[in-house]
Amino acid sequence: MASRDLEEGSSLMPESITITDNRTGESMEIPIEDRGVAASAWSKLLPGIWFYDPGFTVTAACQSSISYVDGDAGVLLYRGYPIEQLAEHSTYLEVAYLLLNAELPTAHQFDGWRGEITHHTFIHENVRKRFLDGFHYDAHPMGMLVSAVAALSTFYSDAKDIFDTDSRNKQVLRLIAKMPTLAAAAHRFSVGMPFVYPDNTLEFAANFLSMMWKVAEPHFEVDPVLTHALDVLFILHADHEQNCSTTAMRVVGSAHADPYSACAAACAALYGPRHGGANEAVVRMLTQIGSLDNVDGFVAAVKQGQCRLQGFGHRVYKNYDPRAKIVKREAEAVFAVTGKNPLLDVALKLEEVALSDEYFISRRLYPNVDFYSGLIYQAMGFPIDMFPVLFAIPRTAGWLAHWVELLAQGQRIARPRQLYVGESERPYVPIGERLG
Ligand code: CMC
Repeated sequence: MASRDLEEGSSLMPESITITDNRTGESMEIPIEDRGVAASAWSKLLPGIWFYDPGFTVTAACQSSISYVDGDAGVLLYRGYPIEQLAEHSTYLEVAYLLLNAELPTAHQFDGWRGEITHHTFIHENVRKRFLDGFHYDAHPMGMLVSAVAALSTFYSDAKDIFDTDSRNKQVLRLIAKMPTLAAAAHRFSVGMPFVYPDNTLEFAANFLSMMWKVAEPHFEVDPVLTHALDVLFILHADHEQNCSTTAMRVVGSAHADPYSACAAACAALYGPRHGGANEAVVRMLTQIGSLDNVDGFVAAVKQGQCRLQGFGHRVYKNYDPRAKIVKREAEAVFAVTGKNPLLDVALKLEEVALSDEYFISRRLYPNVDFYSGLIYQAMGFPIDMFPVLFAIPRTAGWLAHWVELLAQGQRIARPRQLYVGESERPYVPIGERLG
């Protein structure tokens, strides 16, 4: 019905495409802007015809200026800054400021920002005593986090004033500040340890480690190498354009839900093994493989479609994920302190075999950020159940940056169309007259 004159695979991007309605012969030339074509333009020519794109593989659902991914070149930028430079020189809190405010802070701005975040690290006593303590003893910490984030909306009724700038900024601070506290509280509950209050003399990552591991000592001494590695991992996970959880945040945010409810939806999306649960799946997979001798057999099983190579492949990266390179480097520093994770050799061998195998080469499957991050977390002592929680802490900054952006853009409510493939209209049959 419609034709297009955009040459498939052409390296030169044309300035426009022409679509023709073969029923009427009517044509329309539509400009290509930022490598995209506005649906509102072509739908004028073809009203009632939907663009069928399950999984949104070629659909841009919004404009955004927060992060940029070039999947072919393996490039990731936050507000224009390369991820490698941020990982080397910045801190998670500075990156969170950058994502939300579009610019790196001055020293004065950063002091203010850090002070405000630190001010909001405590959670209401009832969040812990009435809410978190009500979970079953073996509750998964990510399930607890999803629910606790949603529950925060009932503690901050002002969060509904999403068009009030002061209120909006306050919820942003609260969420970024309270995520480590909720995360550590979920862990302590799941292992039967008493809750540890935030220590506001510590930096962001160090404070989280203190809440995780402190026992009876008056002041928890954090290892600077481990704290730095965790902060780098927080930077790497802070944003990644329109991934599944950010899309959930934007979809729920577009309905003008409060940010806690939207963030809980994003957390829930992150819980899935195809997204934030992948690092957990990687460690389980490496444990199951167990030794170098089993690598070839496992890769053969993957190629036969019996299972997936966890931590490999990405919707956007068709090259080595730049974050995975940094994580792999950071792993060496961590293992120098903690001792080598015995699964590392299996992971390295698996990567080597996969990267030289036609199945993975032809599909352009490379290690993603999750391939090595789980090994670091495990070496640092985090239980596997905590891995998606560790992802959610820093991604909160990205989710909120997208939430603020979509409100500023006045984005319409997300409401995709469907291709209906069910029954056509038919009359109701009373129960006594139904066959079979
Ligand atoms: N192992 C084996 N084969 C794979 C894998 C894998 N990990 N990933 C993709 N393939 C194959 C897939 O079978 C398909 O082959 P064929 O064309 O013969 O049917 C082809 O590659 C394309 O796969 P797809 O499922 O259409 O790709 P997708 O873009 O829909 O899925 C993905 C992306 C990340 C869900 C997928 O690569 C995957 O399941 N990876 C393992 C889980 C994982 O590591 N997830 C973390 C993603 S990074 C963190 C984040 O940003 O959330």
